[in-house]
Amino acid sequence: MMKTFAVNGAGLGLRRELLPSLEPDNVPEVINFFEVSPENWIDIGGRLGKIFRAYTERHVFVAHGLSLSLGGPAPLDIAFLRRMKAFLDEHNFALYTEHLSFCSDDRHHYDLYPIPFTEEAVRHVAERIRIAQDILERPIALENASYYVKPPFAEMDELTFINAVLTEADCDFHLDVNNIYVNSFNHNYDAATFLHGLCGDRIVYGHVAGHDWDKSGMIIDTHGQAACDPVWLLLELAYQTFGVFPTLLERDSNIPPLADLLVEVGHIADLQRRFGNRSGIAPCTSERIPPVPAQVEGASA
Ligand SMILES: [Fe+2]
Repeated sequence: MMKTFAVNGAGLGLRRELLPSLEPDNVPEVINFFEVSPENWIDIGGRLGKIFRAYTERHVFVAHGLSLSLGGPAPLDIAFLRRMKAFLDEHNFALYTEHLSFCSDDRHHYDLYPIPFTEEAVRHVAERIRIAQDILERPIALENASYYVKPPFAEMDELTFINAVLTEADCDFHLDVNNIYVNSFNHNYDAATFLHGLCGDRIVYGHVAGHDWDKSGMIIDTHGQAACDPVWLLLELAYQTFGVFPTLLERDSNIPPLADLLVEVGHIADLQRRFGNRSGIAPCTSERIPPVPAQVEGASA
């Protein structure tokens, strides 16, 4: 049976830098939906607020949250969650996703930090996801995050932790294949093996993106370049393994002309057509692993 999704096809992040190149009544056909970070728009009124409304009234939108800090030690910001619910309702967002990370403790940080991979953290995050979902009155899809320093006191590896949180919270999964690539390189594991171990039956949404290298030789998840070939191969492998799911091109810095972004969104659509007859969603087990393409094996090199 084909799985149904809240959104379909290929999407693009609606950045303010792109507004001069777009018209809400004349969006290129290859863009099936848009995504925004609600924190960037929730308090925007005036002319920009009217433009945003013109888009949300005409197009399908996904909200990708930045600041819920689901893994953080500070209490959930209930007032913010209520404001978020009103914003999501007002603009009829089809889906809401957040990061499996945290960005606040005693103060707000502007980066997303990894959660310690412990049993206690699994229960902590799962409980906060349930509370947030109750207040928002909609499911939250949780995204695998990139991280640069291994969390201390780990009792399990990253893959086990992600699957444990998804299972404990019984929530949806937002798969970011670039984050797998970035982490696999920086922390020296095999990206394809990692991908195959994920709870594919929970995937409702995906991200593909580019990254940069820093002087120390690490990959930084900047969303500031076109996606590289190994990341596209990971997306192919995800479609091949789990079936096609709605996927967005993330581009948040060093933003090129719209035409360049549309080529990448078109590449997502091409892959979705190519693997579109695959409806089988691999369950949370490694028993149905297909052969790994040789090119992707090198992703963690
Ligand atoms: Fe992402």
